Amino acid sequence: MRVALLSDLHIGMHRPRLVQPMLDAISDAAPEHIVVAGDLVQRARRELFAEAEAILDQTGLPWLCVPGNHDIPLMNVPGRLLWPFHEYEMSVPGPREPLLELPGLKIIGVNSTFPYRWRNGRLTDRQIARVKNLARTGPVMVVQHHPISLLPGETKELMLNAEKAITAYDEAGVDLVLTGHLHHFNLASSASGMKQIHAASALCDRSEDPPNEIAILDAEAGGFQLTRMIAPKDGADFVPQPPIALPSRR
Ligand SMILES: [Fe+2]
Ligand SMILES: [Fe+2]
Repeated sequence: MRVALLSDLHIGMHRPRLVQPMLDAISDAAPEHIVVAGDLVQRARRELFAEAEAILDQTGLPWLCVPGNHDIPLMNVPGRLLWPFHEYEMSVPGPREPLLELPGLKIIGVNSTFPYRWRNGRLTDRQIARVKNLARTGPVMVVQHHPISLLPGETKELMLNAEKAITAYDEAGVDLVLTGHLHHFNLASSASGMKQIHAASALCDRSEDPPNEIAILDAEAGGFQLTRMIAPKDGADFVPQPPIALPSRR
């Protein structure tokens, strides 16, 4: 089973010249599904969501997404508080917390975006309990926008309940946690082997970010292979990197 991992497209503040190379890289890798870890758009406007949807639909593949902090209104306070996910839901197929059971990989989507927090997000006890319950049979990948751990050397505040989530996911036997938001790739491991994949941004045009990238995940008997595909800042293609082997926990 092969899945393409994307995050932080930020359509509206993206690099249009990388859209076709991204689609070509996905087409060449021939995954069966696409997973997007939020921040589809820069601002939660219908035309930007429609553009993001059109780009992803061009792959001809099914895709699932969870909301990011950029996918809800920022300055429109009534919209942010009263119907924050309205525009998102007009374009993104499926629920805000999708569940996908593929052969060899169960993907549990979690909505960590919380309109009352500026950008850091939160998880509720109920959301954490849902993951624990669904993770009884695996292998399992949780996907949510906000990270549950920091990058090495970083001191930023984590979302509310991050520590609780990391412990609960780990104890439940979750194999992989895919998160976005930081725009920096990182791979972390818990003492018992749960891997946290911090995704870089697929397309965002923020000058201080590292190069854009996407990843391909292969779920195989006994584990996973993660292949990063990086578009150098002066390049025109997403270049596959040597695969990283990630053992399964069960
Ligand atoms: Fe982002
Ligand atoms: Fe974000």
